[in-house]
Amino acid sequence: MTSMTDLINAAIEARLRAYAPYSGYLVGAAILDTHGDVWTGCNVEFVSYGLCVCAERTALCKMVSEGVRGFSAVAIATRDGGTPCGMCLQSFMEFAVDPHETKVATVSESGTQNQFKLSDLIPHGFNSFDIRRT
Ligand code: THU
Repeated sequence: MTSMTDLINAAIEARLRAYAPYSGYLVGAAILDTHGDVWTGCNVEFVSYGLCVCAERTALCKMVSEGVRGFSAVAIATRDGGTPCGMCLQSFMEFAVDPHETKVATVSESGTQNQFKLSDLIPHGFNSFDIRRT
């Protein structure tokens, strides 16, 4: 069984693969899906800066593109223990089984850890049920 410590360690390892030559801000993410599998990602930057992809969405898209559509926890490793950006939080809303139960852990280079619930970080995220889901 994958513990939060395992997930944090997977995020720290994924961070080693970050490609961030422009910002120098390296990010690693690890998502625990509903089957118990872990999906990792790092940020990937491009010389056309607006194309940069965050570590969290790299991991999320890897998960979804392999056929998995639900997760329960995510860990993010950064220099300073930063929380995910708004775009990543909204992306998490799409596949979090229950935003009130979804754990979001952060870890800094010095080892400081924090844990949040996804719904605390994005309390009124867009989730309209008027939009048809297929
Ligand atoms: N970044 C992430 O990977 N995740 C976030 O939640 C915020 C920012 C990346 C994007 C860019 O490569 C670098 O960090 C600086 O913004």
